[in-house]
Amino acid sequence: MMTDSATIDDSPAMMAVMERAGEAGVDIVPIIFDRFFAEFPETRALFPHVEAAAGRMVNETLEALFGLAEGAWWVNTTIVNFVDLHRNYGAIPMAQWTAWIDMTVDALLEAASESADGGAAWRRQAERLKAMIDA
Ligand code: HEM
Repeated sequence: MMTDSATIDDSPAMMAVMERAGEAGVDIVPIIFDRFFAEFPETRALFPHVEAAAGRMVNETLEALFGLAEGAWWVNTTIVNFVDLHRNYGAIPMAQWTAWIDMTVDALLEAASESADGGAAWRRQAERLKAMIDA
């Protein structure tokens, strides 16, 4: 029985979700940012270039989660780099990292109308990413 997140290959289930979300044609970027700013209005002023940064921020979050599932060679460095980059924006509380990751996964799963296998796969990798950021 495979129960360890390191031994389950989540990447096919995660890819299926991304494909379904892509077919649905929903732009999840504004959905995530609206929810994030509604929960943390104090962070809005940190985003002077939100139009440019928003898509990159969502893409890099999805890539990190997928890269973790695949055990990609670049994923640890990518995570260290974006955590470092964000020191330029002040001390981001863990609650904001956690909410951002959850909101990104939620919006993707909603766009894909997915709640079973794909959801479990994305959420398993989300927990790994949060633990790495919190380390
Ligand atoms: C897994 C989580 C996250 C990833 C992968 C990520 C990634 C990124 C990337 C790729 C950029 C764009 C950098 C560029 O301009 O090229 C960015 C910008 C930024 N991120 Fe994040 N981010 C994450 C979470 C957060 C959180 C929780 C905050 C909390 C406030 C935050 C605040 C910012 C700010 C303030 C900017 C610059 C915005 C601007 O220039 O307008 N990020 N992020």
